[in-house]
Amino acid sequence: MNENLTLVSNKSQPNELLMLLLENRGRYISGEKISKDFGISRTAVWKQINTLREWGYKIKSSSRLGYCIEESPDLLLPEEIWSSCDLSILGSEIYYYSLIDSTNNAAKKIAQEGAPEGTLVIAERQNRGRGRIERQWQSPLGGIWLSVILRPYLLPQDAPKLTIMTAVAVAEAIRSEIEIEADIKWPNDILIHGKKVCGILTEMSAELDAVNYVVIGVGINANNDSFSEELKDIAVSLKEVKGQKINRLKLLCAVLSKLEDYYEKAETEGFYEILERWKSLCVNLGKKVNIKSINGSFEGTAVDIDEFGALLVKKQDGDIARVLSGDVSLRQNED
Ligand code: BTN
Repeated sequence: MNENLTLVSNKSQPNELLMLLLENRGRYISGEKISKDFGISRTAVWKQINTLREWGYKIKSSSRLGYCIEESPDLLLPEEIWSSCDLSILGSEIYYYSLIDSTNNAAKKIAQEGAPEGTLVIAERQNRGRGRIERQWQSPLGGIWLSVILRPYLLPQDAPKLTIMTAVAVAEAIRSEIEIEADIKWPNDILIHGKKVCGILTEMSAELDAVNYVVIGVGINANNDSFSEELKDIAVSLKEVKGQKINRLKLLCAVLSKLEDYYEKAETEGFYEILERWKSLCVNLGKKVNIKSINGSFEGTAVDIDEFGALLVKKQDGDIARVLSGDVSLRQNED
């Protein structure tokens, strides 16, 4: 695998050769046709084929029949996404990195420079992946490390709803695509059998009354299977649960397509249905919980979330606390 591959790709100007071969996967396309269609010499075709081979594509070639993709590398390349995922808003531009510090950092910079709504930033590996509350996020090869740039017509106080929407999209995509019961732990962790398989970090640039852009960072432990000592009891990957490697591209497509559907729906119908789905997937509601927030810690029962995504916790004195940020844990032996 090429360790330094960086691609900035626009759906309207894809790598045409790769798109053609992917759309005809398993079938030969003659060198002559490629050279004629794209107006390049046969030598230029051959050079481009070799570049694809360097990226890890297994391409059969025959002087009589031409070229045929036998196998794609396990990379979330823009052309793979465009040829496999059915998307309209998301992925019009894709920034792809084999290695980056953090896709959220890159996405914020790109958004600041004017990247359009739906731009995706994807990395095979992050060396400074960031989690909530200034935590690090371990991001080795095999995971799905993704940031989505959105420019919603929302008030800043409504932006947490986008995190909720993303959590629902990821949990449902894991359920339908991988056939594993994924749950949501407030505010935005996706859990399988109580262990974290995905985290979401939403960051925003806003004026008082308008959002400039939102970056939704999604980290899914897909095929990465070795966690550090501190994480191994609380984190898990889909590969570990499933007992075999999962198809990252298919899962990514499912996540993006659900996210796009919900985003469009929210624009026309609001977030009501998304919140209801979130509640049905949430492991905290109705449970005794410990809340740790910047204002201190307390215990109570999680009774609901409100329309802004705040967790409503009934304290022992009967008061309802509205928790907007912090950590929630289920109380031992009480779940
Ligand atoms: C959490 O603490 O649960 C949130 C983790 C979010 C991790 C993802 S990985 C892709 C994106 N880039 C980052 O640096 N962080 C998010």
